[in-house]
Amino acid sequence: MTADNAKISAGLLDWYDRHHREFPWRISPSDRKRGVKPTPYHVWLSEIMLQQTTVQAVRPYFLTFIERWPDVVSLADAPDDDIMKAWAGLGYYSRARNLKKCAELVASQHGGMFPDNETALKTLPGIGDYTAAAIAAIAFNSHASVVDGNIERVIARLLRLATPLPAVKPEIKAHMSCLTPHDRPGDFAQAMMDLGATICTPKRPACSFCPLNGSCAVSGLNEAESLPLKPPKKTRPVRRGAAFVAIASDGAILLRKRPGEGLLGGMSEVPTSRWTARQDGALGVGAAPFAGDWKMAGTIKHVFTHFELRLDVYRAKFANKPAYEDGWWSGTHTVSGEALPTVMKKAIAAAIEPSQENKTSSKGMLL
Ligand code: ADE
Repeated sequence: MTADNAKISAGLLDWYDRHHREFPWRISPSDRKRGVKPTPYHVWLSEIMLQQTTVQAVRPYFLTFIERWPDVVSLADAPDDDIMKAWAGLGYYSRARNLKKCAELVASQHGGMFPDNETALKTLPGIGDYTAAAIAAIAFNSHASVVDGNIERVIARLLRLATPLPAVKPEIKAHMSCLTPHDRPGDFAQAMMDLGATICTPKRPACSFCPLNGSCAVSGLNEAESLPLKPPKKTRPVRRGAAFVAIASDGAILLRKRPGEGLLGGMSEVPTSRWTARQDGALGVGAAPFAGDWKMAGTIKHVFTHFELRLDVYRAKFANKPAYEDGWWSGTHTVSGEALPTVMKKAIAAAIEPSQENKTSSKGMLL
């Protein structure tokens, strides 16, 4: 390692020792120095949860999972549906399906122990380049080059890299490898993440508090916010559809299960029309699961990675519980434990807590 890089990594680790964030999946730098080892199961579980999700959102889910399934073998033995229910609300549900498959493989083919190197980790479901490097570095202290969005930003600024994303990624990964010290690669990766999350933020970075300020190529240039250069934003297409919240007289709601693969695969939903870019009659009340006094309760919007969905939400009350193939009526006490993705929670909320305007017209009908 060059003297400059050694200075940067030592300065950052010194800052991390004093200012690291505390998370339930982390061990503190002082514990690590005393020889305490992180639990690979915790590191893996948190890294899967943290893909595309914030640390604040992940924290309660992580705690619930480790209390309910304290090790990878208990997770491997858990019914799929229980895992999907516990994951509901975290989004990107293929992560939960892969989590289960990965746990099964680690339990059955690795004796319940996570492999300690990137190559073997990458053979497991749901573990790509980033996650393999993060687990290898954080759980096993191996010299892996970990690059997430925060680290990308720190390095692009530190070196004033002029190539836009995504083309700049290999250059960033190579620099991260050069900066990563051999004695504390796990702490160093987490220190870079913490710096990116708390000081070298996307907007208004707090450069005057930055431990790398003296070595940073954009220091004093007022350029930090513009880096890393991003490709032009693509606009998200809009898809439309209708969702049907059928409410029985005891408050139960009709649910069904989505197909195992694809968007929100294996999760639960209220019946809906197709979601399509077209706007024709088949997307309205004509797509209801059965006849009823369907009333429009509102429109909800939900943003997925590749499109924005606008669902017109219809509600109807039923004195009986009409039969519906592959569906079930979920009672008021069970609905909160169903594997309902956020978009479906929004649709149900729109139906049972109608907007102010609807509230007056549906007095006495609220659940
Ligand atoms: N984001 C992804 N992995 C993380 C970690 N280990 N600590 C904090 N933020 C993270």
